Amino acid sequence: MTQVETGAATGVSFALSPEQRELRALAREFAEKEIRPKAAEYDEHSTHPVDVIAKAHELGLMNLHIPESLGGAALPAFDGMLVGEELNWGCSGIATSIGANGLGAAPVIIAGTDEQKEQWLPPLLEEPIICSFGLSEPDAGSDVARMTTTAERRGDEYVLNGSKTFITNAGYAAWTVVFAKTDPGKGHRGISAFVVPMDAPGVQIEKHLDKMGQRATDTSAFALTDVVVPAANLLGEEGEGFKIAMKTLDFTRPGTAAGAVGVAQAAFELAVEYAKERVTFDVPIAMHQGVNFMIADMATEIEAARLLVWQSAWLHDQGKRATLQSSYAKRFAADMAMKVTIDAVQVFGGYGYIKEYPVEKLMRDAKLFQIYEGTSQIQRLVIAKEIFLPRGD
Ligand code: CAA
Repeated sequence: MTQVETGAATGVSFALSPEQRELRALAREFAEKEIRPKAAEYDEHSTHPVDVIAKAHELGLMNLHIPESLGGAALPAFDGMLVGEELNWGCSGIATSIGANGLGAAPVIIAGTDEQKEQWLPPLLEEPIICSFGLSEPDAGSDVARMTTTAERRGDEYVLNGSKTFITNAGYAAWTVVFAKTDPGKGHRGISAFVVPMDAPGVQIEKHLDKMGQRATDTSAFALTDVVVPAANLLGEEGEGFKIAMKTLDFTRPGTAAGAVGVAQAAFELAVEYAKERVTFDVPIAMHQGVNFMIADMATEIEAARLLVWQSAWLHDQGKRATLQSSYAKRFAADMAMKVTIDAVQVFGGYGYIKEYPVEKLMRDAKLFQIYEGTSQIQRLVIAKEIFLPRGD
């Protein structure tokens, strides 16, 4: 007879520790009390949520992964992902404004020297300072190696020229990790990463981009014209920028995928409540199989995505390269959130399509998860590469 093994026997457990449950509850309470009441208004006006960011900062819900030696909480990726799901359940626009510091700071954590970490990270803990991640360009989004921004070494300095776009929080950032070519002839091996103070002469925010969803997050384009930074701002060695960017995205994609789960969970809860209340043909619509099967699929797919997210974050915390699992999680959770939010609008019928009800916002918000931090197609490309050309640990 086959024996069902317990978690203890297999070493596998889905149980959260008391500290993780507490952290998740804190994030849920914050989302409920501080984020949700602002969500509709900030969405409408595309407001940078400076007040909510300040409160999240005060409560320690920002900058979760800064090393303890620098005064940070050094939370594992898993705990960050728990926080991410809850904040995004509140509003993914506001949550992305809060969480994007994780993306901005990650290259410094991954590749910075002790001096660089000391210079750039502790100030993020002292005040709600914003940092951002400057990878995408007008003609190079998915294909990172096509970037044309350059950084030319002149003595003890580098001079940067080029433009970046679709950069989360750039319009409010104190500094941005800018990826630029130090050796344009070398393709991806010619890319380097620099910390660029956004008040340096020659940095010009060109515009705040008016988005369909996640409108409470600033997304900006900026130009770099003869921007001079000290050579000490180079992260890692010249030519290591591409790999620093990839390692950063391996680390952040589970958190982004968790955000997609949070949005889907919010849409699911609203759809369930509405299905219980709305009556057609003398019964609540939850009694109609056409509706309750949709709800059953939503629940199953949300759970499946959550498990992929948990696995990818867990794997990362084991010190393993989680490229494949991060892309599984990001691809599946983003596509799932899109489908679940579309179905939630369908459950609401005509009401789902009007702004007075919250599900149309969730549908608009969900779309961005299929695009930023690598489109769903790029995730498939990464997955296929990992299958056919595995790189090992
Ligand atoms: N970890 C470490 N090294 C990696 C790696 C990883 N995850 N992935 C690739 N590499 C290494 C490879 O081993 C290879 O090394 P060698 O030079 O030693 O051979 C090198 O990097 C090049 O790899 P590829 O040949 O796979 O590179 P590619 O040019 O074919 O591109 C790609 C790969 C996966 C498509 C990559 O370009 C990519 O991830 N694109 C999407 C970018 C993205 O996610 N952009 C979003 C920007 S951030 C954002 O959206 C946030 C915001 O603020 C809005």
